[in-house]
Amino acid sequence: MKRILSGVQPSGKPHLGNYLGAMKQHIEMQKNYEAYLFIADLHALTTVRDPEKMRAQTLDLAASYLALGLDPKKTAFFKQSSVPEHAELCWIFDAITMMPFLERAHAWKDAQAKGRKDATVGLFNYPILQAADILLYKPDIVPVGQDQKQHIEMSRDIAQNFNKLFGETFKIPAPLIEKEVAVVPGTDGQKMSKSYGNTIEIFAEESVLKKQVMGIKTDSTPLEDPKDPEKCLVFTFYKLLATPAQTKSLAKKYRKGGFGFGDAKKALLELILKHFEEPRKKYDKLTKDPKKIQKILEDGAKKAKKIAEKTLNEAKEKIGY
Ligand code: ADP
Ligand code: TRP
Repeated sequence: MKRILSGVQPSGKPHLGNYLGAMKQHIEMQKNYEAYLFIADLHALTTVRDPEKMRAQTLDLAASYLALGLDPKKTAFFKQSSVPEHAELCWIFDAITMMPFLERAHAWKDAQAKGRKDATVGLFNYPILQAADILLYKPDIVPVGQDQKQHIEMSRDIAQNFNKLFGETFKIPAPLIEKEVAVVPGTDGQKMSKSYGNTIEIFAEESVLKKQVMGIKTDSTPLEDPKDPEKCLVFTFYKLLATPAQTKSLAKKYRKGGFGFGDAKKALLELILKHFEEPRKKYDKLTKDPKKIQKILEDGAKKAKKIAEKTLNEAKEKIGY
């Protein structure tokens, strides 16, 4: 059985972009792959500095995955910080990686371009920890959104570098990026991201969700005019979740006229609530039982650690430790 691995930071509430670009694939693939999935709480420390938030967001992300159908019997689901091998392998890679290699990373270049004085060593080193996350588990495939492509490529380079220096140790991983949902836009038309405040959160309370949907940017075409659905952000979201028949029927309403963006937003809100009806119920139940979630993550860490330990020992032996 081929192996997949992925991680998501507990840096805020999961949104439609996370779900369509990554989480959905993770959950679907657990059926046919040996799956490892972790909450990247070491990476999240580069931005989350409030212990209460770290705890709450970690539990929230775990509850979200479980509510969406992640089966802990099929997927080893764990917190990155529970498997110290990630940090140890990170150091090994640090010691054999050149600075200019990391200076090419998008996130670092962005921080430099913005002259950010608060850019940490952790932000600079982020891709190396991610390489350690991935390579420890020797996965065949790493399912992620488009924005992670460079990180996977860097992991491949780091694996090749180690293998060249010390002999074949790490498997070269391949990214899996779903084309249609590689970059889900946000409510303002930029990429949807927790850091841009333009998200639609799938488990938000109904009133919050409504506010987010009603906030989707539209143009000022009058209600009575016919509209081109393909030019409307609301329609873009609708299409991502609807059946082809539902999409066709909404497109017809746009083209006919007398159908305003407010109406389209109402249809979208209804669709989201319907689409996530079961997961939202499960999520409410799960969030009331944090002990159950913690136990699942602890059991997952035990499974993950077995593999991580083995790979790290192989690497250490090759190095001469
Ligand atoms: P954010 O940008 O909101 O902080 P993360 O960096 O935590 O999101 O991303 C978690 C996963 O979701 C990654 O695999 C990432 O590629 C994917 N992802 C995030 N935003 C989007 C988006 N707008 N469209 C598609 N995939 C996304
Ligand atoms: N950097 C990823 C993100 O922001 C999260 C992540 C950390 C990850 N380690 C990983 C994703 C390993 C895939 C594989 O979304």
